[in-house]
Amino acid sequence: MTHQEIREKFLNFFKEKEHAIVPSSSLIPTDSSVLLTTAGMQQFKPYFLGEKSPFGNRAVSIQKSFRTSDIESVGDESHLTFFEMLGNFSFGDYFKREAIEWANEFLKLVVKDYKNRMHVTVFEGNDNVPFDQESYEIWKSLGVPEEKILKRGREDNFWGPTGNEGPCGPNTEIYIDGLEIWNLVFNEYFCSRDKKLILLKQKGVDTGMGLERLAMILQAKENIFETDLFAAPFEILLNRPENQQRSGRIIADHIRGSIFLLSDGVRSSNKEAGYVLRRLIRRILVHAKKIFIPQELIFDLIGKAIDFYSSVYEDLEKNKKLILEFFKEEADKFNLTLEKGLKEFDKRYPLKLGKRVQIEKKIGQDAFDLHQTYGFPLELIKELLNERFYQFDEDEFKKKIEEEFKKHQEISRAGVEKKFGGHGLSFDRDNLSPEFHNVKLHTATHLLHQALRQILGTEVKQMGSDITPERLRFDFSFSRKLTEEEKRKVEDLVNQKIQENLDVKKEEMSFEEAQKSGALAFFKEKYPKQVSVYSINGFSKEICNGPHAEKTSLLGHFKIIKEESSSAGVRRIRAILE
Ligand code: SER
Repeated sequence: MTHQEIREKFLNFFKEKEHAIVPSSSLIPTDSSVLLTTAGMQQFKPYFLGEKSPFGNRAVSIQKSFRTSDIESVGDESHLTFFEMLGNFSFGDYFKREAIEWANEFLKLVVKDYKNRMHVTVFEGNDNVPFDQESYEIWKSLGVPEEKILKRGREDNFWGPTGNEGPCGPNTEIYIDGLEIWNLVFNEYFCSRDKKLILLKQKGVDTGMGLERLAMILQAKENIFETDLFAAPFEILLNRPENQQRSGRIIADHIRGSIFLLSDGVRSSNKEAGYVLRRLIRRILVHAKKIFIPQELIFDLIGKAIDFYSSVYEDLEKNKKLILEFFKEEADKFNLTLEKGLKEFDKRYPLKLGKRVQIEKKIGQDAFDLHQTYGFPLELIKELLNERFYQFDEDEFKKKIEEEFKKHQEISRAGVEKKFGGHGLSFDRDNLSPEFHNVKLHTATHLLHQALRQILGTEVKQMGSDITPERLRFDFSFSRKLTEEEKRKVEDLVNQKIQENLDVKKEEMSFEEAQKSGALAFFKEKYPKQVSVYSINGFSKEICNGPHAEKTSLLGHFKIIKEESSSAGVRRIRAILE
């Protein structure tokens, strides 16, 4: 069965069950609490919460999805960054019985010997949510023997919410030949920002099945890269000697990911979605180098992939020229950096011809510089060192990365994970850099600091700051409780500055210069000679490592949640961006 046939079969199956066929939404979600669209349910989030859906209360879609969490696993049999997700949805309409029966019916229809190859999992229950007995009984009633209905915990069998808050619930997963292919989520709860579960008035169903994995099963392939979704456009990448296989697969996956991101309007930059795109493109170029694929061939492959997927996503064809141009621009930029970095590297570690001599010197600091200053991916650094017979000092490198991380620790690690998809994503320390952080609350902290000084007077000084995905917390010197009116004025001033859409600019200067220029410094911090100063156009100026939002309008709406005493003479404000 071709991928086109699978698409049609799935959509028609649910159309016959009165589902409206809804086109995929963009990879750039309207829900600003997630970085990229990671699942089919994302565009339907409001309808699970009771908002009236414009296409009735049953929907079916094939959604473009992107998961940064899987980037390190790409290259194995079944993981991808970009993939397409087949899903059916109920917004307060049918629930567990229909959802399970239909999934079972569909798979029986398309998977050979389904009964013997399948098993399922259901939620075993925990302190907050009971065992999903109902799903268990439904599977049993469909003739699935008990030993094939496994009970699993929260990690596997409770899904959501995406982002900071939203619908979520227990799920049941269907496996074929041990591979998870379909996840049926029963949205019974609303998870609030403070992680409380509240029963939803309206129950919903959100299912998701990876098209590539289903194609692998239906086309009887050993891995997703052998399916027609990859084989046709990327043949030349995938038929490689074994030691080049992983790189070939990574390039194929990343080409798909980057053309779809570019087509949906993502542009490479140093933060958020733009950084994800930049990273994909750089990895493509590095892996291409590694397996001797010239850059021209990469451009050909991008063109081929666009042509191939244009039969499903028309936008791609329209954007073809633009995608190729942006890709080329980014590649040129990276090549320049790479060249500069390589020159520097050559200077320090000249390539010695002749006999291989084992030099015991371990390289950590320089590896870190190459990574931070020139953006060299870690795998390339390791390879270069190996080529020149030096040892990579992993401990030293990690130590440096940790130090860098600590410099930015006011922006929480949890915030990063959340922002990157709400999937319990792994934190990618190999590629740790400040760009990864959730920056908006950080910029809001600067606005708040200045607003407080303006409304309450310059006795206000920063005493501490802490940011989690949910809120910022700011401690400052001030002798008494703020009045309601003062709080409102501070809020209004911050929101006014957000609406003015001010530029946030970074400058490098000496610490003395920074102080002379009136930039605020945090007295508890020890500053180096050379510092960065962030100014928010005419309003605030602080010595700070960043990173920050480029423009204040990106912040949304600022709200003070609480004002309280922190210690003698120190007040504490908690605030959020909505
Ligand atoms: N939202 C669930 C998932 O992404 C089911 O669609 O797995």
